[in-house]
Amino acid sequence: MSNKPHHIAIVMDGNGRWAEAQGKNRTFGHEKGAETVRAITTYCAGHKEIERLTLYAFSTENWKRPKIEVEFLMKLLERYLKNEKTTYLNGNIRFEPIGDLSIFSKSLRKVIDDVQNATQSCNGLTQCLALNYGGRDEIVRAANALHERAQTITVDSLQAILDCPHDVDLLIRTGGDQRLSNFLLWQAAYAELFFTKTLWPEFNADELESIIKKFKTVERRFGGLN
Ligand code: IPE
Ligand code: IPE
Ligand code: MG
Repeated sequence: MSNKPHHIAIVMDGNGRWAEAQGKNRTFGHEKGAETVRAITTYCAGHKEIERLTLYAFSTENWKRPKIEVEFLMKLLERYLKNEKTTYLNGNIRFEPIGDLSIFSKSLRKVIDDVQNATQSCNGLTQCLALNYGGRDEIVRAANALHERAQTITVDSLQAILDCPHDVDLLIRTGGDQRLSNFLLWQAAYAELFFTKTLWPEFNADELESIIKKFKTVERRFGGLN
């Protein structure tokens, strides 16, 4: 028996450092990072056991960055979704956003809606992008939604109403830091955590494959005894 990587989540970190190491602007790293998103998504779409890939693209804390970098990231996201629409459709990949999207510009929300609607009957991989996402914010919004409906808060009722109601099997962070940075706090309760020093623009399918190989051999006990 080996573990199945049904839901993989990735903190895509290290774009800025990758660019700065070459004397380039941080935005160059984000641009290259978007190519890694495409490559990793394509790999996962071709992997029979992977059903869901959740990628941390912009956190509720990332608004603290300089305005110029935030604006670049918003434009890059809009451009990426527009350009990749055919990649999603050709690959039978469903696109889903999580996070509080209400803060985004009308044009960005329109593109997000458009790609989500266009791919809703795709039944291969689901690629979920975490956008203005924070684990604490997600849990608070879910608790408020239950409160408004006068529903009892239980583990099951709260989980069901989260932006992402799916437990994570394998959580990876690139870039060398070993922290969650407010990503999928609830869903990562029993995730296997893997950290790599590789910066996101240099991460590739070969490295993902070797992480999955190690993940498969881990004994997952979920609090029980094997
Ligand atoms: C991750 O790379 C991408 C986003 C947070 C949008 P960073 O931009 O955090 O890159 P580093 O960690 O500064 O190198
Ligand atoms: C986490 O990376 C957020 C994303 C990858 C979108 P950060 O670079 O923002 O995290 P910290 O600031 O190092 O914790
Ligand atoms: Mg970072």
